[in-house]
Order: sequence, then structure tokens, then C-alpha cells
Amino acid sequence: MSPDARYLHAARGLPVDTTPVWFMRQAGRALPEYRKIRERATLLEITRDPALCAEVTLQPVRRLGVDAAILFADITTPLAGLGVAFDIKEGVGPVIEHPVRTMADVETLRPFEPEAAVAPLLEAIRLIRAESPVPLIGFAGAPFTLACYLVEGGPSRDFQRTKRLMHAEPATWAALLDRLVDATIAYLSAQAAAGAQALQVFDSWVGGLSPLDYERRLWPWMRRLFEGIAPLGVPITHFGVGTGGILGLQASAGGDVIGLDWRIALSEGRRLVGDRAVQGNLDPVLLLGPWEGVEEAARWVLAQNDGRPGHIFNLGHGVLPGTDPDHLARLVDLVHGSGASR
Ligand code: CP3
Repeated sequence: MSPDARYLHAARGLPVDTTPVWFMRQAGRALPEYRKIRERATLLEITRDPALCAEVTLQPVRRLGVDAAILFADITTPLAGLGVAFDIKEGVGPVIEHPVRTMADVETLRPFEPEAAVAPLLEAIRLIRAESPVPLIGFAGAPFTLACYLVEGGPSRDFQRTKRLMHAEPATWAALLDRLVDATIAYLSAQAAAGAQALQVFDSWVGGLSPLDYERRLWPWMRRLFEGIAPLGVPITHFGVGTGGILGLQASAGGDVIGLDWRIALSEGRRLVGDRAVQGNLDPVLLLGPWEGVEEAARWVLAQNDGRPGHIFNLGHGVLPGTDPDHLARLVDLVHGSGASR
């Protein structure tokens, strides 16, 4: 099977010659060649320079032999196009200059126009497609996860302000989500039009919601988002962390592939999402430890899948800074040795 087919086939639930593997946050600080580029360019500068962005996107493909590339950007990248000023602080993450907390704040958000907002990124997609031996995954943050950054103003442990807005100001919450869904559909559509062969929606913080809140105060917007991007015709992964209690709801909102984190056995995750492909789900922290722990967990994940088609091997969340890239390369080899799906 050609290297470009494995990931896309698995994402469609089709049989493959062996399990495809890539890693969320595979580009970035775990790689010395990325850190070298970061000595002369910030993350924002990299995403505004098509050649540099393409180079950083392809670094892990070359070093690790993964089956997919993921566009180098941050989930906050499109926010500039909404008129939101932010910075990405070292060791902290995105910080929003003026958090969005009232209807008046929501009304200042501009409609997202991809060609004006992220032209260098779309150009980077074209460059990557010309060079990459494996499919390119485009991505966006999901509306809830973006709302958490916008409302809290930065990283948060329990999303108090976001949940308060959701319950105390339902009209403001609805207006904010409406705009984020529109912007995300436009952003992902532009990435697919530029050449992204698959898409992933990162709902990294959605595991903080109860099933009740997810169903009543988020699901309708997630549904509208997936209805808006399904016609693009590329496979879409719907990812979250800590989602054991809401996997069925997430799957019913949409996505060809559902992301699983390490808190759930893959076979149990498969049962909860029904007739979908799954992505996951090795604990990324294990990669900071000895190889034996990684190997044991990887073999367990593969055994949990038991050769069924529609498994894309990944971590349950992103590669952590401090991860030994040699562990990642070895893990790719181990997964590729797992053999064909039945
Ligand atoms: O290969 C890749 O996946 C890299 C591309 C990428 C980045 N951010 C670059 C980045 C991707 C896919 C993201 C997504 C992202 N960003 C998510 C969703 C995925 C997830 O991990 O849940 C989230 C929640 C963010 C927000 C964000 N940006 C955080 C939490 C951080 C880390 C803060 C820290 O320093 O630990 C960032 C910064 C960031 N985004 C870095 C990179 C490579 C590190 C900082 C840098 O290199 O300057």
C-alpha cells in the first residue's frame, strides 16, 4: 500500500496493510530541528512564513516516518482574523488580550475571511502538498475549546467563566458559538480547498463538560459545524480529552474518526462511538519514561483494536515537551510492524 493511502483508508474505516500512525503535536519542541528554527523565529512568525511553516510541518514526517503530516499552526491562529489580539506565551500557551465576556464583546468579532486572515497558511498547504509523501491533515480548534480561551483569557483548570457565561448569559453564549462555528467552517473549508486531504477538529477542553451541558448547550453547534464541513469530502477527526462520558454524544454530532484519550480502553471507546473509525490512545506521559513502558502500552492499544479496520494509532493527547524523539520513531516502527487489518 502506498504511504499516502494508509491513513486515508483507515480514516474511512477501510482495510489497510498495517496500522497508520501519527502524533498530535508531532511538530514542535520535541524535535531539535524545530527548536533550532525557534531560535530565530517565534511560533507566530513561523505560521506567517509559508516556506518555514511547510518545513516545520514536514520535519516529523522525515524524522519519524509517520503516516500523516499536520499543518503547523496553533488553534488560536485564526483568531487574529476575527480581530482578537493574542500572544502565545512560552510554557503557558495562548493568552487573549481582551477576553470576550459580554454581548458587546461578541459583537466586536469580525466575520472570518480566510484569504485575508490566513493567506500564508494556505500557501504553506500548497507547498506541503507538493513535497509531502503522506497526506496533510488541516485542523481547527472546536468552538467550545476556542470559547474557553476567549472567555477565560488564557489557560484554565475548570473553565469557571466559560461555564458561567454558558448558563447565566445564554444569548451571549449562543451568539459567541454561532460566530465560532461560522468562522471554523470557513477556516476548514479554505484549508481543504488549498489541499488539506483530511481535517481534525480539536475539542481539547470539552471533557470538562457534563453530558447534560454538552447535549443542551454545545451539541447543536457541533452538529452544525460537522454538517458544514462534511460536504468537503475529506475524512474528519473529532478529538477531545477526558471524553469517556460524552463519546456517544460527540460521535452523534459528527466526524468520521473519533479521538480517544488513554483513560478509556480502545475497545470500550469503539463500543461507545459505534460505527466509526477511532484514533488513539497511548498515554503521552509514558514517552517520558523507559521504552519498556511505551512498548507494553502500545501492544495493549493494538491488542484492544484486535485487527479491526478503522484504527489510526496516536497518543491520547499531544506529544509533551521533553519527549525523546527516538522513542517516537521506535513507536512508529512498532506500530508499523503490527500487520494488516482483517
Ligand atoms: O505538530 C503539531 O501538532 C504542531 C502544530 C500545533 C500547535 N498547536 C503548535 C504549537 C497544533 C496542532 C496545536 C494545537 C493546539 N494548540 C491545541 C489542540 C491540541 C491539544 O494539544 O490539545 C491547543 C489546546 C493549543 C493551545 C496551545 N498552544 C497550548 C496549550 C500550547 C502549549 C503551551 C506550552 O508551552 O506548553 C500552545 C503553544 C504551541 N502551539 C507550541 C507549539 C509548537 C509550543 C510553543 C512554541 O513552540 O513556541
